[in-house]
Amino acid sequence: MQQQIQSMMERALSEVAQATDPDALEETRIEYLGRKGKLTSLLRGLGSMDAAERPAAGQALNRAKEAVKVAVDERVTSLLSAQDDAPLTIDLTLPGRASRPGSLHVLPQIIEEICEIFHGMGYSRAVGPEVELDEFNFAKLNFPDDHPSRDLQDTFYVNDAVVMRTQTSPVQLRYMQEHEPPLAIVSPGRVYRHEQIDASHAAEFYQIEGLFVDHDVSLADLKSTIHAFIHALFGEDKKLRFRPHFFPFTEPSVEVDLWWESDRKSGWLEIMGAGMVHPHVFANAGYDPDRYTGFAFGMGIDRIAMVRHGIPDIRLLYENDLRFLRQF
Ligand code: PHE
Repeated sequence: MQQQIQSMMERALSEVAQATDPDALEETRIEYLGRKGKLTSLLRGLGSMDAAERPAAGQALNRAKEAVKVAVDERVTSLLSAQDDAPLTIDLTLPGRASRPGSLHVLPQIIEEICEIFHGMGYSRAVGPEVELDEFNFAKLNFPDDHPSRDLQDTFYVNDAVVMRTQTSPVQLRYMQEHEPPLAIVSPGRVYRHEQIDASHAAEFYQIEGLFVDHDVSLADLKSTIHAFIHALFGEDKKLRFRPHFFPFTEPSVEVDLWWESDRKSGWLEIMGAGMVHPHVFANAGYDPDRYTGFAFGMGIDRIAMVRHGIPDIRLLYENDLRFLRQF
């Protein structure tokens, strides 16, 4: 037994001495001293030995393990310091690579700005899912079954009952189902339409929905709110035009145009749809349409960002080209 211990220790010590890097050394350490290591398993052999020889063998084994352990520790230290002394393979005089601080994309920048303005008017912020039930995107918003925007040509269907929302208006219903009036919310987010993509049409873009519900709300409240908002965003001198329009979920409905002048052109620019919440929508949300009145509006955020910054093509907003994005 003594001899076995002695020769095992010598083998271990010579392997330790030959290890050329810390990883190999660690393997050697585990091979001999690990829980199932070669020296460790000799310990188990002690049980079957003569009681008279056992103490001496046990002591020899402990000394061997200790010797190997000390050798491993010394070798680690010398390998690591050799690594430290190795000639540098990098050039410390090269200039560093500056890390630029990131910034918000121009769309979330505008979204924050818009929400902040409405926050100042007492509106809170709501969110809704982008993968939406047909029921909320269309049916409960008073769209008839054969409405053209339900067409496969215009809407991305997930299945018969589920669509990629084509507008943020379903958030109106989801919010009203969970809350009692009076309420004032804005809800920004992505919407999806099966568009022919060009400089002013993308298949995904952003809208922000607004909803205000209380007693005795009138179209005059809608107009003054939109005026206050546009003046806060673009300046007091900005002119708006409200044109009669149709949406299934508001009655009466309007489209709002902003007079815009730039170096390239000037004219009325359509910026949002709006109107008085249709009584059917109130009923579908569980509100009594005889008790409550309200207005809603839905605005294209991309359009707002584009006129604000003179961006000529909506696709620039989605290409993630840093040369473009770093300008904002
Ligand atoms: N959801 C309408 C659209 O996408 C806009 C709108 C919102 C109109 C709210 C009226 C009220 O065109």
